Amino acid sequence: MNFKKALSLICIGTAGATLAFAQTKRPAVNTDEAKMNAFVSQLMAKMTVDEKIGQLNLVTGGEATTGSVVSTDVESKIAKGQIGGIFSLTTPQRIRKAQEIAVTKSRLKIPMIFGQDVIHGYKTSFPIPLALAASWDLDLIQRTARVAATEATADGLNWAYSPMVDIVRDARWGRVAESSGEDEYLGSQIARVMVKGLQGDLKGNNTMMACVKHFALYGAAESGRDYNTTDMSLDRMYNVYLKPYKAAIDAGAGSAMVSFNDINGTPATANKWLLTDVLRKQWGFKGFVVSDYTGVSELIEHGLGDLQQVSALALKAGTDMDMVSEGYLKTLKTSLQQGKVTIADINNACRLVLEAKYKLGLFQDPYKYCSEERAKTEIMTPANMKFSRDAASQTFVLLKNANKTLPLKKAGNIAVIGPLGNTGANMPGTWAVNADLATTPSLLEGLKAVAGNKANITYSMGSNLTADATLQKNGTMFGREIPRDDRPEAEVIEDAVKAAKKADVVIAALGEGSEMSGESSSRTDIGIPDVQKRLLEALLKTGKPVVLVLFTGRPLTIKWESENVPAILNVWFGGSQAAYAIADVLFGDVNPSGKLPITFPQNVGQVPIYYSHKNTGRPLAKNGWFTKFRSDYLDVSNDPQYPFGFGLSYTTFSYSDVKLSSATLRPGSTITATVTVTNTGSMEGKETVQLYTRDLVGSTTRPVMELKGFKKVSLKPGESKQVSFNISEEDLKFYNAQLKYVAEPGDFKVFVGPNSADVKESKFTLLSK
Ligand code: BGC
Repeated sequence: MNFKKALSLICIGTAGATLAFAQTKRPAVNTDEAKMNAFVSQLMAKMTVDEKIGQLNLVTGGEATTGSVVSTDVESKIAKGQIGGIFSLTTPQRIRKAQEIAVTKSRLKIPMIFGQDVIHGYKTSFPIPLALAASWDLDLIQRTARVAATEATADGLNWAYSPMVDIVRDARWGRVAESSGEDEYLGSQIARVMVKGLQGDLKGNNTMMACVKHFALYGAAESGRDYNTTDMSLDRMYNVYLKPYKAAIDAGAGSAMVSFNDINGTPATANKWLLTDVLRKQWGFKGFVVSDYTGVSELIEHGLGDLQQVSALALKAGTDMDMVSEGYLKTLKTSLQQGKVTIADINNACRLVLEAKYKLGLFQDPYKYCSEERAKTEIMTPANMKFSRDAASQTFVLLKNANKTLPLKKAGNIAVIGPLGNTGANMPGTWAVNADLATTPSLLEGLKAVAGNKANITYSMGSNLTADATLQKNGTMFGREIPRDDRPEAEVIEDAVKAAKKADVVIAALGEGSEMSGESSSRTDIGIPDVQKRLLEALLKTGKPVVLVLFTGRPLTIKWESENVPAILNVWFGGSQAAYAIADVLFGDVNPSGKLPITFPQNVGQVPIYYSHKNTGRPLAKNGWFTKFRSDYLDVSNDPQYPFGFGLSYTTFSYSDVKLSSATLRPGSTITATVTVTNTGSMEGKETVQLYTRDLVGSTTRPVMELKGFKKVSLKPGESKQVSFNISEEDLKFYNAQLKYVAEPGDFKVFVGPNSADVKESKFTLLSK
């Protein structure tokens, strides 16, 4: 995200922008498919090959880029009909200015589409996607997407590069921060509600087109290194990694973005099997496919040929729109003349892009999203900011709370210590490209505001973010810089220890800078940086109670911290209002209820680690460590540090045994699994009850557990609620070795509990009829 203005003309004010296109008044059209087809066919009949190719060209407006800005002479290209859309250009004024060129100066006056990475909020930023997943609250997640779309469209945009639904099981990969974690069921549910939240009915001017990404398997990058190769069995692909993309497509996502990686030897951008056979033929996708940033020209580096060759390959594979590379613009006409692509290839892609514009209503009103009034009144409203605070407080995961260290009293001396304790810019997280970092409150400010004047809250930095200055610089880019203290480490720690000694409680604000996860932020050591750990050790030695407020965009290895620090609240990166939300939870105004959407390993050598693994032929006995000739490690148990689904509350919950309505399930009917959950503590709290199954005998190896449902319930102290889940044959289906989606009759286990490692179980049989 390089915040620079590339398009000088577009970026100047709007004075004088005319409504020339709107005044020409095209006939009103509706979204009925036949009418759309007729409209697009009529338009395409008038288009030259050059104009068709122009529709396939997507350029950056240069406000937030993740690579080089290739396109030049953007204004004259728009006028020549050589640009189909622009991304990372915002404000109704600038967008109107650009759109005006398209609809007044270009021959056919075709409007452009305007995209942006609207990923976890817009100017009102919400917690990073991994954090939102930790809420296990689909309604809440959908509402964050709705607010994001409302704000983004008020700022002129109509196309969101979201949801990112890549499954991630290797926490070294920095983009885990943008994902919903390791599980295909949770991930699919989130994919669906994100699409709904962004797109709504795609009619109003506050709805925008979703772009599900990164298709496909991007989260399985080898070694957790970004952009790296993926190589995967069809079993794993169909049963796990592909599912959330399909869920987004089934929910009606209007577009899809191709991933950077190669898959089993063919880069996704040139992968006809993926983009045509799977996406279009198997799944019936009707929207358009855009490459990722320079994804087409990167095929040259992948080793598939020169720009002309790779552009032809990408188009023929099913990549309709070329983001940034301009390979299509520069070479497709020649390829057509030389018979390397057909006019049908170009027509197909062009039609899909035009259809998207039609669905967005841009042919009716190209300025539909250019309301200066909306930009003034609908962005960062008090209601949106309040919602951001409430949403953030639902995403924090209480990992440990010995001796009821938390919640804290709003009184006494509180020492906030750590490099992340007094930085607002670090709070919103990696893709908050539109957030106002300068006005985002720091944790210290949030605590002071919420604690009121009975508490005396002090701050000491205690350590740098990382000992190495370059690493710190790279982990705090794009306006998220954290100051360094260049005195000897011992002196900096000593100041903090002095502050701690004067305090009743220490809040240690430690972890990652927000650019230590996200794109191009892979790490091989996924612990809290050593220099911060040494600070933490010194703080613990004071004997004062220490609360670790852990900032992170990925599962961290925190074995030592878990064994030694009395309380750990994992706060991820919580958006614009995270500071207040963290304070709300630390002081007990909100009881934490987040649950991990991804496993936390004990050490990095365990990754990839995930709860729904296969059993192997030599499984380790439950709770075992090392047994010769079993599937295990000599030096560490197979257990995670914190399992998938884990998260504590300030209250406690008990679970009854699981009751099944029947020991047999007939196809076409359902059985019900019921547990009674009781709040056994003294504070009202929310609990996410999780349902898992295991297929005990299959035609292929089946996971030891698979999430099949979850319900979040709120319970007052002493209150009990029955929580029931229906299970049908549909829930037990999987892709078999022939890739048929089937449920196989036989015995199943069912598990219910507060997380994947702590469950009560029962058993039933799926009958054949
Ligand atoms: C990222 C995408 C993003 C695109 C446009 C790329 O580098 O991989 O996720 O949508 O840039 O900003």
